[in-house]
Order: sequence, then C-alpha cells, then structure tokens
Amino acid sequence: MAQHSLLNISGKDGVRQRIQALRQELNLHAHRYYVLDAPTLADAEYDRLFQELATLEKQHPELITADSPTQRVGGAPLAQFETVAHTLPMLSLENAFDSDDLVDFEERLFRFLHSTEPISYVTEPKLDGLAVELVYEEGLFSLGSTRGDGVLGEDITRNLKTIPAIPLRLLTPDGTRIPQRLEVRGEVFIGLADFKKLNEERAKAGESLFANPRNAAAGSLRQLDPKITATRPLDFYVYGVSDPRPLPCAHQHALLQYLGSLGFKINPLVHLCRNITEAISQFTQLQNQRSELAYDIDGMVVKVDAFALQERLGAKARSPRWAIAAKFPASQATTRLLSVEFWVGRTGAITPVAILEPVRVGGVTVSRATLHNEDELRRKGLMLGDTVLVQRAGDVIPEVVKPVVENRTGQEQTITMPTACPECGQPLVRAGQEAITRCPNPNCPAQRVRGLIHFTGKSGMDIEGLGKKAVEQLVNQGLIQDIPDIYQLQIETLAALDGWGYKSAENAVRAIQGSRNPTLAKFLAALGIRHVGEVTAQLLARHFTSLDRLVPAGEADFLQIEGIGAQMATSLVDYFQDPAVLEMLDRLKALGISIQEEKQGAEAGGGLAGSVFLFTGGLTRLSRHEAKARIKELGGQVATGISRKVTHVVLGDSPGSKLSKARELGLTVITEDEFLRLIGR
Ligand code: IVH
Repeated sequence: MAQHSLLNISGKDGVRQRIQALRQELNLHAHRYYVLDAPTLADAEYDRLFQELATLEKQHPELITADSPTQRVGGAPLAQFETVAHTLPMLSLENAFDSDDLVDFEERLFRFLHSTEPISYVTEPKLDGLAVELVYEEGLFSLGSTRGDGVLGEDITRNLKTIPAIPLRLLTPDGTRIPQRLEVRGEVFIGLADFKKLNEERAKAGESLFANPRNAAAGSLRQLDPKITATRPLDFYVYGVSDPRPLPCAHQHALLQYLGSLGFKINPLVHLCRNITEAISQFTQLQNQRSELAYDIDGMVVKVDAFALQERLGAKARSPRWAIAAKFPASQATTRLLSVEFWVGRTGAITPVAILEPVRVGGVTVSRATLHNEDELRRKGLMLGDTVLVQRAGDVIPEVVKPVVENRTGQEQTITMPTACPECGQPLVRAGQEAITRCPNPNCPAQRVRGLIHFTGKSGMDIEGLGKKAVEQLVNQGLIQDIPDIYQLQIETLAALDGWGYKSAENAVRAIQGSRNPTLAKFLAALGIRHVGEVTAQLLARHFTSLDRLVPAGEADFLQIEGIGAQMATSLVDYFQDPAVLEMLDRLKALGISIQEEKQGAEAGGGLAGSVFLFTGGLTRLSRHEAKARIKELGGQVATGISRKVTHVVLGDSPGSKLSKARELGLTVITEDEFLRLIGR
C-alpha cells in the first residue's frame, strides 16, 4: 500500500482518486477486521491510511461522502431522537421453553398448512441485545432505528454509524444485485470481554457500572452524543430483512449468506436443520455451548427456512407464526448468604436484602437479592452462612430460591429482624395482618430521601437531571430536605457540586422549573402517598378536579369513588391531615407552584365511561384480571359474551371464535397495543 502515497496526487482528479482508493482500502480492512475477524493489515498501517484520508478530506471538504470511514463519528449532540415509522412492523416472538414446546410449534405449522410435509428450519442464537433496523438506499446506509414499540422506533442513525460491524456502504462483489432500498434487521450487543473492560474503566473513572452487557448496549445506543457512543464497544449481528420478496433468495439460510456477502456479520452458530428433531438437538447443543460464548444469549430462534412457507403462515398480532424463540431455562447458581441488610423504603417498609458472595448467574454477577419481607424469609427457612440457590429467569431480578440444607455445618445463625429502624432508630411496627414491617417515623432520613427520589422520578414529576444519585447527593449536602426545597435550587449552587457542571446544573434547574405546573394526577402520584399509585391518582384527580377540594375530604368522600377502597381512603385522610403535609403544600403554593385543575366528567380524557370491552385470545403484557380491573377503574364495563353492546373487542394471541362473530356484527376490534394505550399504559 505504501507506494500509493508516492503517486502524484496534485490536481483535483488525483485527489479524488486517492480519496476513493483510501476509502475502499480502509472499508475493506475494516470488514476483514470487524466482520470476518481476519485482519490482513497491521493496526498502525490502518491508522496511517485513515490519517491520510482525514487530512485530504480536511483540505477538500467538498469531497467528503456519507460512506467515508471518517464519517462514523460526526456532528454535534442531538437534543432528542426523532421518531421513525417502520415500513413493516418489527414483530416479537412467541416463546418455547422445552423440546415439547418445539414439537407443538411444528404441529401448529402442520395444522395451519394442512400438510405434514417435512419442514426445514434455520436455528440462530437469540442474542441478548437490542433489535435495530438499518435502511440502505442505493447501497448507502441512510437510516437506522430502534425497534421501539414495533411500529414506531427512534432514529439512532448517527449512533449506529459508529459501530464498525455495520457497513456504511454495502459491498457488491462480482456485481451482486442489491435492491434500491434494503431494510435489514439485527441485534446490537456488547461482548462479555468488552463489557468487563468497559465496566473496569468506568469504575476507575468513578462512574456508575452497568448491570449487564444488554443494559450497557442499550445505554450506549441511547446516547444523544454520538461521540460517547463511539467510545463504546458495540457490535452487530444481522438476522433478517423486513421483506425478503425483492431479494434473490428464497430461503432464510440463503438470505443470511447473501447478507454476509454484502458485508454484514452473520452469527457462526446459525444452522440449517431438516426437521424439528434436528432443531431440538441444536437447542441442546447451544445450551451446552452457552457458557463458553463470547457474548450473552438467552435462547435460540427457530425459523421456517422457506420464505414461501413463511408467507403462507403469516403473522398474528404481535408475532409471526413461522418462528419461535426457544428460551433457556432460568439460570441457577449456588453461593453463600453472607449477611442480611435491612433496607428502608419510601413508605417506611423494611425489606430484608440478602448479601451474597458474588456469583455469576445467567450472564450477570449477583451480589444482592431481595428477600421481600419477614414472612418470605421465614418461609424459605434461610440462615446466615447458608449455601443458597440463586436464580435469574430472563430479565427478572435475581432471587434466592432456597437454602441448600445438606451443606449446613451447624455454624449457621438465625436471621433476626431488627426491632428498631436501621436508619433512624425508631421502634419498628408490624400492623395486623400485614407482612410488612415499617418504620413509623415520617421524618426518617431514609424515607425522606426515597420519597424525594420518587417525587423527581419517572412515576412522579419526571424531572430530568434529578435522578437517584443527584437527589442523594443534594440531601447529603443538606441542600434539600423536602419537596419545596427542590424548587429553590439555584444553578450556581448545583454547578459548584462534585460531578456537576454549569450545563448540567442549568438543565436540571430548567427541568425543575418546567415541573411547576403539573396536572393534579401527576402531582398526587408524585407525593408518594401510601397505596396511591398513578391509577388511583387519576381517579382522585378526575373526581375532585382540584387540590383544594381534595385536601379536606373525609373517608366517606374517598369511598364514594369507584376503585378506591378502605385502605386507600384511610391512608389519604392520614396523609392530608398531617400538619407537616399541609405546611409543605402551603410552602409550594407560596413558591408559585400551581397545580392544574382537572377537567370534569365527560370532558376528562381517557375515561372509559360508556365503553364495553370483550376479550378474545390471550393478553401478553398483563393478565385478564389486571385488564378488567383497570377498565373498571376507568369507568368502563367488561362483557363476557358477544353482543351489540360491546364497543371494543380486544384481540389477544390465538383469538377464539368470538373474533369471527365480532367481525360478523361489525364490532370494533382493537389490538393489545391499542388497548394498552386506551387504558393509559
Ligand atoms: S427474529 C419476526 N432472530 O428477539 C422475527 N430475533 O422477540 C423477529 N433476537 O426483538 C425477530 N436474536 O431483538 C430474531 N436471531 C434472531 C434474534 C432475534 C435476537 C431478538 C430480537 C427481537 C426478539 C424477538
């Protein structure tokens, strides 16, 4: 390569040619290095060529093109991500948990196809990262987005451009045909070794650690500043396209090879199987390989190989019929229970937390696990010093399953619940039938901090820039003690704190000021009154419409509201009779915080009064029971059979005969997503 630089590159054409040659050379080596994992050029030589290109482009900025390797990072941070509509929805997958489920899957395919002709499958590791879509126009990477809710995602093009395994321009060796527009889909992830290194660096820099590679990848992709994303070791495997029809491939297996030839990275553990039995043995094999892989996977995806069959099978509301995710069983490990800490929550609830000897379970290191409450702890019969079985299922937080009693040595000790609050020393109380032990001191510092964290957090006022860490810091520094204090914070005060700069202080104060005019429902939810979550807050807001009408209400007034029970009513009266609360509300008023009046009755948005719902098929994101409760809370009704009175038929997975009857009657049919939106989820 070195001889190239001796060429005479004076003159515009010479420069243009040299730039083109450099780009081609650099892209080729990046592909060998990052995609094929087979570099043929020393790093130093790559850097030298890159530098040469950068210098030439600096001298001739008019010659810069979007696919130049220098363009992987560029531009100023964004204020927010734009929304992108996927041309075809990004579906999710149904789950299988064992070989029986896979056999059932094939049975369903046979039934649907009215045939028992053998079906070939492609099996692919199910990467535990984030699904993204990449759009190529005329071979040039033009738009990249997150999956989002499957229909709408976020434009993260600039962040995706920083990932070296994502080609900026498709390769077209030997004139491979590419369509004018190609939408590929795949998974962005961070490998285990890179993840470890990233966290080590963060620890050194005093930054918070990522819980697992998936969170690290998600956090990195959602950076508004692509320069930060560029420093993260993100990687990418492609697994499909939005629509294979315009492509010269009739099968998934061939498609993957075709995408490989265009420059994408294909997972080497992809297999073509002639029948479901072979797919099942791949599943077993992959499970055995799992712990040796360089990245986290949480299962194996089984896809019908032939696109013609895929097309006949089609999709249900949320998932295609032609594919299924075979999930690995919950990962378990044993470790030692070193001690139990008692954590004081926002409402004073005391939660025992197991402190464990760190152990790797399902891809993350676990050193703490909640033990929920005293009853739970006794039911499991745990003792200090026990060997315990811990498990993680999917994304679920780790839990202690049971003690391994056979391993006891006699040295184990009983766990005693504290009688006084570990934070403020007040004697603890456990009321009646409740499983929860509480600190009754409303001025307990732990409760105060957690109450403030709730107030500024996502289920509260959602004040950006005042997260958990920031609130803890402000309380520790004595800058805030209660809610009104938040509204008196000054930019200069914040800017002077450790870890803050003028910009972040200014942003935080702007966010605080932006929250001076909350809706009544939001404000009530943010107060963190016991038993009063976002739903109850909605009901209260709609009923009372203003804070001034709500504060003096008595238990009987609260009980009038459909959806509010005795426990909530008592808790509300206790709260609004507390002189400290009334004083706090007065201070907020004096500071000019004004809570919007809620619109009443029919004007109120989201109310389901007059609506009658009927369910068919299974809901996937909440239980029928929850769905019904929520409809009732919002004033709607639930029907058990089909009739003209039904205003909404909610379509779940595998709907029954109600669906066809609903169609006959011309009733409105809505998807689970639409339903969730209606109930404000
Ligand atoms: S296929 C309609 N293939 O799993 C087909 N998905 O629940 C849907 N995933 O959001 C995707 N590895 O993030 C497919 N080899 C693979 C995959 C894979 C991981 C993820 C993907 C998707 C989720 C499906």
